[in-house]
Amino acid sequence: MELSECIVMMISSFIMYTGLDNAGMFSSLLRVVDFVVDKAKEILELPEMDIEGMDVKSESFDIDVENVTFSYDKKVIIDDLSVHIPEKTTTAIVGLSGGGKTTLCHLIARFWDVDKGKVTLGGRDIKEYSMDSLMKNFSFVFQNVYLFQDTIANNIRFGQPEASMEQVIEAAKKACCHDFIMRLPNGYETVIGEGGASLSGGEKQRISIARAIMKDAPIIILDEATANVDPENEKELVEAIDALTKEKTILMIAHRLKTVRNADQILVIDKGRIAEQGKHEELMKKDGIYKRFVNARETAGSWKLNI
Ligand SMILES: Nc1ncnc2c1ncn2[C@@H]1O[C@H](COP(=O)(O)OP(=O)(O)O)[C@@H](O)[C@H]1O
Ligand SMILES: [Mg+2]
Repeated sequence: MELSECIVMMISSFIMYTGLDNAGMFSSLLRVVDFVVDKAKEILELPEMDIEGMDVKSESFDIDVENVTFSYDKKVIIDDLSVHIPEKTTTAIVGLSGGGKTTLCHLIARFWDVDKGKVTLGGRDIKEYSMDSLMKNFSFVFQNVYLFQDTIANNIRFGQPEASMEQVIEAAKKACCHDFIMRLPNGYETVIGEGGASLSGGEKQRISIARAIMKDAPIIILDEATANVDPENEKELVEAIDALTKEKTILMIAHRLKTVRNADQILVIDKGRIAEQGKHEELMKKDGIYKRFVNARETAGSWKLNI
């Protein structure tokens, strides 16, 4: 090959390489776009929930789950389940992971609609309530808490923007937050980093409890709220939960043996059904799942119900 041809070849190979490289990049980008469009289509195609309810002001807060069956797609997750939850009582829900505990709580608050049966609150089907008038009745405390990139005070006030600073401080004190908030550089006006990064898990959770105390809803749902909290933080967290749950209907997916032991009723959920139901002493007399769980906990030193 002559030198001139060789130079032209080298230059054009570089040009071709850049082109091919770009094409490769675009093809992977196209795959991502394709996936995102598919996802968006999937979401848009989900049947819309009928939320044309009335503004119901319930007098009583008894919850009844009546022959409820539910599946996310084909597999039945809640299977013809019925339970009566009287107001101002504590119901502990225990069982192996994947049994349907969270799903049951979500159905009670109408995050999803049941396939069969119904859920009633104060004697009325929850579908008769407008979303607002239904949601007013519930507060949730989850294991993972999301806080907004805003001041601590506004995070506590969330949902009650008209609340005064005194009310915010009162809720924070009840939830054992006041002391650590006062230690922050700007106290209640400290802006929390993205996703609440500058606070520990237990602190974030106590802020979410202060928020729930502020809301003062009659029904509190705690989903494994004390799981993954280090022992140092646990005492304060338990104290905060006690303040939140006074005189309320409590549904707790429980992690700690002590809170389960004191519950008015315990539901052992297994494969979407109630395998056992009753108080701690009653269930300990049976030689069933619950007793085996408790014994396992006592020998292993860790609560194995929910992991
Ligand atoms: N959003 C969802 N979509 C599809 N399947 C789900 C969804 N949430 C939970 N599941 C499935 O439902 C079953 C019960 O889950 P869950 O109610 O979270 O159980 P638990 O709280 O007892 O661990 C599990 O098999 C889980 O994989
Ligand atoms: Mg769960």
